[in-house]
Amino acid sequence: MTEQTGNLTFGIIKPDAVRGGKTGAVLQRITDGGFKIRAMKLIHMTKKEAEGFYEVHRERPFFGELTTFMSSGPCAVLALEREGAVKAWRDLMGATDPAKADAGTLRKEFGGSLGENAVHGSDSEENAAIEVSYFFSRLEMV
Ligand code: CMP
Repeated sequence: MTEQTGNLTFGIIKPDAVRGGKTGAVLQRITDGGFKIRAMKLIHMTKKEAEGFYEVHRERPFFGELTTFMSSGPCAVLALEREGAVKAWRDLMGATDPAKADAGTLRKEFGGSLGENAVHGSDSEENAAIEVSYFFSRLEMV
């Protein structure tokens, strides 16, 4: 297996979407979108684990709300591979605010609000590598 970091991104099916029974539908859209799932697991983050993941947002006013929500129930974490994975996954997710997301995107379809927006995706290749390694060991990557 060759490491293709540039073609790898990280995604989360957030607690709102998992609670709402949308995990399967989102996974279908991911595979239909040409992504290979390189790693996947269902986890229930503690508040501290969510705070560690969103460390870059610590000073933002919504940090408490965000990390409480992200630790409110199980979520599915994913390492996704595709050519141009970071942009392709962000395009499939749509805008952060579901109200502003394009028709056909995951956040338009499954997101309820700016905070509870169904999915997360890395914003750069550099952050994708950091985020994948926050949740997955090399042994968990197939
Ligand atoms: P995500 O891609 O997971 O990265 C940071 C998250 O913070 C973002 O999706 C939103 O869900 C959330 N977020 C951004 N702005 C706000 C806000 N004003 N209030 C609550 N949550 C927000």
